[in-house]
Amino acid sequence: MCGIVGYIGAQQAAPILLEGLGRLEYRGYDSAGIAVLGARGTVKVVRRVGRVHALAAAVPAKTAGRVGIGHTRWATHGAPSEANAHPQPSADGRIQVVHNGIIDNAAELRARLAAEGIDLASDTDTEVLAHLIAGATRTQDTLETAVLAALAQVTGTYAIAVVDTATPDRIVVARNGSPLVIGVGEREMFVASDVSALVRHTSSVVHLEDGELASVTATGFRTFTRERDDVAKTPTTVELTVEELELAGHDHFMHKEIHEQPSSVERMLGGRLDDRFGSARLDGLRMELRELRGFRRVKVLGCGSAYYVGQLGATLIEDLARVPADAEPASEFRYRNPVIEPDTLYVAVSQSGETADTLFAVREIQRKGGRVVGLVNVVGSSIARQCDGGIYLHAGPEVSVASTKALTHMAVGFALLALALGRVHDLSHADGARILAGLQALPGQIAEILADEETIAQAGRRLADARSLFFIGRVRGYPVAREAAQKFKEITYRHAEAYPSSELKHGPLALIDADLPTVAVIPDDDLVERNLAAAHEIRARGGRLTVITHPGVDLGDLEADRITVPRNERELDPILLTIPTQLLAYHAARALGEDIDRPRNLAKSVTVE
Ligand code: F6R
Repeated sequence: MCGIVGYIGAQQAAPILLEGLGRLEYRGYDSAGIAVLGARGTVKVVRRVGRVHALAAAVPAKTAGRVGIGHTRWATHGAPSEANAHPQPSADGRIQVVHNGIIDNAAELRARLAAEGIDLASDTDTEVLAHLIAGATRTQDTLETAVLAALAQVTGTYAIAVVDTATPDRIVVARNGSPLVIGVGEREMFVASDVSALVRHTSSVVHLEDGELASVTATGFRTFTRERDDVAKTPTTVELTVEELELAGHDHFMHKEIHEQPSSVERMLGGRLDDRFGSARLDGLRMELRELRGFRRVKVLGCGSAYYVGQLGATLIEDLARVPADAEPASEFRYRNPVIEPDTLYVAVSQSGETADTLFAVREIQRKGGRVVGLVNVVGSSIARQCDGGIYLHAGPEVSVASTKALTHMAVGFALLALALGRVHDLSHADGARILAGLQALPGQIAEILADEETIAQAGRRLADARSLFFIGRVRGYPVAREAAQKFKEITYRHAEAYPSSELKHGPLALIDADLPTVAVIPDDDLVERNLAAAHEIRARGGRLTVITHPGVDLGDLEADRITVPRNERELDPILLTIPTQLLAYHAARALGEDIDRPRNLAKSVTVE
């Protein structure tokens, strides 16, 4: 969602803030702004609608000051405009606030402030924080206690950074439901909503927990709770380099991230394959084998693409462990008063580890006594820390809003979990060894698919002219089709819908004609004849076809663009069948000239409900 940065130290703040905002732009980007504290109680605020480079162009080169905060915004309350961009000021400009999250009682507070005679200059919920803090400074001795007094009046989620021209030696930050980290430098300190904004300067970070605040000065920080108790925090080291956040010769991060998959999957598997027992080594689950064996059901929770991969994962678990498993959107689950069963293993899956709906689902399960493990990419993220154990995905940073490599890693993570569960249930050693060999083959096979990019690119470009498309697949192929449709619509803005192939004749077939192409997932499995029959039905009605299939499948006289992926074990095939769909979407969007890494209306990390 939105991004926060802050700097305090000996350097000029403005360039550091702008560089940090550039790194956070993928989180949200309809407007941006900075506030830099200058000499003698002055503050320079610049806000602009649009991208960070528009803001950078508007910031005067002579902006001097060694303390500042900045923000990229993804509108929630109020349209993208300069007045609604952050930092949001108090009436006298003394207090400046940047905020991620949503203040639930903003309407009520705005009405109260207006009744007190305060002119509200924006439509945002954030503005109330600035006024409340400014009001509290009249009765409180310090900025820290003024922030505490203001926060006591609000409900909702927030990560905030606050500066005050009257105490220009500090930034006060607070967290409740939205991530916030402090970066520790040499006589300089940073704050950010995401470590990617800090890595150029420091790898030493401190994560704030919900309900915690910090007072950050150039030489240190003090963390405390809303109840005013001090909490001691030791910095941890982040393993993220600036190079990982560069394009490295690719035109888009999405393309780079698709091509990283062979090496990133290999890295993920490292140390986790247990040849001796034909199983997976998953110490992060923090679970005895006996405990793992005790689960009678698995429930997977995630949002968007993570949910679709969760469906793929549930099928893998049923296949290998013969334990009933299903996936549900976390965004629905959390609102329906779910029944939590003690012998169900709950699995939360998330790239960012910050998706609010998934995080709240985890908390709801835990509140009712359930056990949740996480499949999470971002180390130290909120979901990773909230879960009772888990499997880190180790996909490396994913900058493109459209998720690709992280999803592949989720699918591999599910395969590892399914294998470990299977081996404590009825999966034989021989079958375990077969899956291990399949997993080991994945990096090379992904590389093989990517080597044939031009074939996939041509098919993708031919799909670019369609206003609407179908993606179909059956059983294991259906989650592949769902994710493929999702990726296509996200970055091409074409209407793309996924159906189980078996459902076509129950309705959607009515829409098929020359203007509505279909991408059909047809692996070489026991359903191949049925899948081919569905493809022929589409052709017979004049529909264009792209078929993603295996080498042995004979399409006969079926007229179609053919994309062939290598065979693996049938349980793992969906992982490979998904790879070309990433490139199909990428090349269609590229042909359309779309802004691939930053699709309209979307943000990388959805930290609001
Ligand atoms: C699709 C996409 C989204 C995310 C979803 C969950 O390309 O990126 O659908 O999958 O918002 O995000 P995470 O995995 O961060 O919880």
